[in-house]
Amino acid sequence: GKRVFSGIQPTGIPHLGNYLGAIQYWVDIQQDNECIYCLVDMHALTVWQEPVSLRKQTLEQTAVLLAAGIDPNKHILFNQSAVSAHARLAWIFNCVARIGWMNRMTQFKDKAGKNREANSVGLYVYPNLMAADILAYKATCVPVGEDQRQHLELTNDIAQKFNHDYKTGFFPVVEGFIPKTSARVMNLRDGSKKMSKSDPSEQGRIELLDEDDVITNKIKRAKSDSEPLPSEQEGLSHRLEALNLVSIYSVLAKQSVEQVLQDFGGKGFSPFKSALSDLLIQKIAPIREETKKMLADKQHLQTILKQGAEKASAIADPIVSEAEYIVGFLK
Ligand code: TYM
Repeated sequence: GKRVFSGIQPTGIPHLGNYLGAIQYWVDIQQDNECIYCLVDMHALTVWQEPVSLRKQTLEQTAVLLAAGIDPNKHILFNQSAVSAHARLAWIFNCVARIGWMNRMTQFKDKAGKNREANSVGLYVYPNLMAADILAYKATCVPVGEDQRQHLELTNDIAQKFNHDYKTGFFPVVEGFIPKTSARVMNLRDGSKKMSKSDPSEQGRIELLDEDDVITNKIKRAKSDSEPLPSEQEGLSHRLEALNLVSIYSVLAKQSVEQVLQDFGGKGFSPFKSALSDLLIQKIAPIREETKKMLADKQHLQTILKQGAEKASAIADPIVSEAEYIVGFLK
């Protein structure tokens, strides 16, 4: 098995994109790997968070991840700020990464908006903290959606420069585990935008705590077009919204896109959408109900995170201490 690391920001409720692009694989790869999953509260802080709601959402997301099937006994689940190794290594990486590398990060450009200079410095160096998250554990497998690909490339650039500058083979090469079909789930109202927690309208995303009727309604009102579904995949190439819905169906039903189109090709959206709602409810309702149960005992959730942080520190502290020695800090 490999050592796996991945993270999610505890802002808002995880949505279908988070689930299909990342969380479902986090659950699956627990089978034969050593997995470390992190609620990245330090990353969340790069944009303003109401302190009380950051704490609340950290516990809420913990509950969702447990309900989705993360096993905190065999694996590790914790919040980032509880393990100081992340911040320590991130500082070293701030001194390894080049300003030019940061300037190429497309996610910063997207998030920073027009008034770039008004953003926090944290948002700018965010990818260095992400590299530290992974390399503090020398993890080699990182299951993420497509939007994190550039950050993983940067992680390898940082590891390589560190190894080169300090003439060491200390940090390993990191590989992304980016799914084929669901690495970029799109907004239900606009197939050219990715499904995102920060979009002001909830109509474009399905959240893992949505009630059944809310799911059905969002799918009913999801943008489509007036043509029937095509029988072959090429027929979807210029129909972004149709492609997105068919892709979601295919991942949930564990069928290829071709198979889905064999069943629904030539038919209108209405029967397809109702089958899609059924599949979504089958997947989401049990997670939602289990999350509600878990949220009744917040003390238990905190204990799980605390134990996770202790296990995580036991791995990361010696690795980061060694990195500190390599760069010349006194032991
Ligand atoms: P975050 O919190 O934005 O998203 C968590 C995971 O969900 C994936 N994702 C999607 N996948 C498919 N379609 C979508 N529309 C979609 N939206 C989000 C993301 O790719 C991600 O895998 N920087 C990271 C968190 C992080 C991290 C790390 C990840 C911090 N340190 C170290 C891996 C390793 C982030 O903001 O994810």
